[in-house]
Amino acid sequence: MKSNNIHTRKGQKMIDVKNKVFHLSTKDSAYIFRVLPSGHLENLHYGEPLVMQDFTGLHMKQNAGAGSSVQYKEQGMFLDLLPLEISPSGKGDYRALPLEVEMPDGSYVFDFVYATHEIIEGTVPMEGLPTAKGEEAKTLKLTLRDVLFPVELILYYTTFYESNVITRRMALYNGTQETLKISKIMSLQLDLLKEEVDVLTLHGGWIKEGKAVRRRLQEGIFKHTSRTGSSSNRSNPGVLFMDKRATEDAGRVYGVNLLYSGNHETTLEVSGHGLLRVLTGIGSAQFLWPLAAGETFETPEAALTTSEQGMNGASQNFHHFVNHHVVPKYWQQRPRPVLMNNWEATFFDFTERKILAMAKEAKSMGMELFVLDDGWFGDRNHDRAGLGDYEVNKKKLPSGLKGLGEKIRAMGLDFGLWFEPEMVNEDSGLYRAHPDYAMKVPRRIPSVGRNQLVLDLNRLEVQDYIINHITAILKDAPISYVKWDMNRHISDVYSSVVAHQGMTLHGYILGLYRVMKVLTERFPKILFESCSSGGNRFDLGMLSYMPQIWTSDNTDPIARLKIQGGLSYFYPPSTMGAHVSESPHQQTLRRTPLETRFHVAAFGLLGYELELSHLNQKEREEVKRQITWYKDHRRWLQFGRFYRFDPVKGQRVNFQILDEEGHQGVLGNFQLLQEPSPTFDVLAFKGLHKEKQYVVETLKATMDIEAFGGLLKHITPVKLKPGGLILRNARKFYRLPHNVERYEAKGDLFMAGLRVHQQFMGTGYHKDTRMLGDFGSQLMVIQVKEEEDGKRTRV
Ligand code: GLA
Repeated sequence: MKSNNIHTRKGQKMIDVKNKVFHLSTKDSAYIFRVLPSGHLENLHYGEPLVMQDFTGLHMKQNAGAGSSVQYKEQGMFLDLLPLEISPSGKGDYRALPLEVEMPDGSYVFDFVYATHEIIEGTVPMEGLPTAKGEEAKTLKLTLRDVLFPVELILYYTTFYESNVITRRMALYNGTQETLKISKIMSLQLDLLKEEVDVLTLHGGWIKEGKAVRRRLQEGIFKHTSRTGSSSNRSNPGVLFMDKRATEDAGRVYGVNLLYSGNHETTLEVSGHGLLRVLTGIGSAQFLWPLAAGETFETPEAALTTSEQGMNGASQNFHHFVNHHVVPKYWQQRPRPVLMNNWEATFFDFTERKILAMAKEAKSMGMELFVLDDGWFGDRNHDRAGLGDYEVNKKKLPSGLKGLGEKIRAMGLDFGLWFEPEMVNEDSGLYRAHPDYAMKVPRRIPSVGRNQLVLDLNRLEVQDYIINHITAILKDAPISYVKWDMNRHISDVYSSVVAHQGMTLHGYILGLYRVMKVLTERFPKILFESCSSGGNRFDLGMLSYMPQIWTSDNTDPIARLKIQGGLSYFYPPSTMGAHVSESPHQQTLRRTPLETRFHVAAFGLLGYELELSHLNQKEREEVKRQITWYKDHRRWLQFGRFYRFDPVKGQRVNFQILDEEGHQGVLGNFQLLQEPSPTFDVLAFKGLHKEKQYVVETLKATMDIEAFGGLLKHITPVKLKPGGLILRNARKFYRLPHNVERYEAKGDLFMAGLRVHQQFMGTGYHKDTRMLGDFGSQLMVIQVKEEEDGKRTRV
């Protein structure tokens, strides 16, 4: 959208205010609330677009009151029965509240009412916390004042028209002479009339991130929170709530997420009167913020979306928002390199020679970036030592990072490096010199995670220690990529520099954001990928500084279908590092075909993380072909429109991605376990133009003949012994081509459901038979046909 386009559909403004009614519009949604005579804000609507009009029909009618409800001073007004934008405390609203503040009179009672408002062009950045970016955005700033004390609550609403996202946050200003104590402050409150909703949240742990759980909420409270000090792999801050009939593609769905990387909490409460309240913000566990006279506390920004097109609609809104408004400007829509990472191949055991040999192979297969992972510094030969130190280990890397980087550059590859800057091992130079830098409570023995302690990022000197050491390395060696790791949950929360220990965890995140801001602004062209034992800190806060995240330490493609599929509810493929690794897989022992490992990774940011020298000649050719195809199409593989599908009989998973115009794309068809004598597979594509002509064709791929064992007799007239020498040798020189199917038809047919070839069912091999077996897969490539007048329909 152009920046001067302030009018939207039918002349509707992005933010319109009339008679104290606030009407916020995005492309497909409207958010409307009004100022009540009492000064409180009543939510009138959040959902389908509505034009500005007389909204009396949407006012809550409180003509009969309700039994035991407590009445506000205005005649006949019951706060507990109203959908409010922000609730007063102690005035009769007994639902979960967005704020808990000890006021100057020692009470927890406050009552914020409308004072002024202002409409601001663009976004309103914050000091210390990330905000979404976008010149074309508009912000509504509403100031509310407590009826007794000079304390102000400022609400911000920023509209991102094309993304269908409205961000919200608040700030609390203390104009009294006393210190206020904030024990809870959310970023948003949203009240809607809903008696029953389904809630979708992501759960999990190490190597099992992003498990989507959908549950029904009726009267009562559901709280989704993280207490590990970071956004965590146990409970991602993204939450969907929806009509109980909503599916992936249809029905009204709402979503919230936070631009924050620390403890978070989202509360959903359905009251006995059929009102749904949603609160989201900083987690209140171990949180207490003394707000001195004249100070303001700002909450992280929350992103809100809604769609009538089911969960895919809501996810696509979030994906658009992340790609256009969250990640750093330089990296928005910028293609990401295909990388090679040495970690799973070598762990700590490498030398410069080994790395260079690997890099050479990576280059020969078409990779573009070589990432040297953990183990390059100090005494880091295992995970018990070295964290905190930045001296290169000359035994492993005699020509240093500069020398190694230059050699890798000379091969025509970029060079990337791993850091874990927020941590320290007790066995390290840093800890010996500054044991006080580590977070621990005086006189208590701190708990460790992966043998390491957390540095106290509340302290400026600790922040500067990290900034200075990393700056020196990035200036010295030719580094174009950084993997920023953080491998433990925080415990023993204590800082020697805060006014109250309830500030420590939030202060840690503010310190981290300062460090990341300084470094990413200093080196804007270095690609930063964040990581936390995989996806333990997969959130919009990290993405505001670092455009991609190592999704999971689990690279088993079958496990990845769940992990990437789960995270896709909130995060686009352009944020998910996805690597092809070895089989059997190191975390699951599962054997999977090379092509499936690639097909899953192609729905993210492709990389390879395996011992390349273990690949035989034919596998190398296969990898080369994969990389060439990925590079040719990465514009939309990384930034296209992503669709999930309902799993078929629990045994088939499909993903699809389309370019912005809906002209090119790919559908991934992944089989979990093979069914005997399987039924017919029908692939119902999504999002195509009904009337346009398309070609859909299987991406050429080959299979390892060893997978067929003695069954090879179906294919070759020569009898080969399974596991025998000839077969073991033959697989080096021959791989079996997958069947290829090609169809040409209008989009409507492909969306109605393409009936593809039958699968193998024990009745003999034929070149047209689809041989998938357990964990087999195929990609169906979608390409619009040239139009009849000869013009190509896509750029
Ligand atoms: C974490 C990361 C891995 C790898 C190791 C190195 O587990 O998630 O990718 O970098 O640390 O120690």
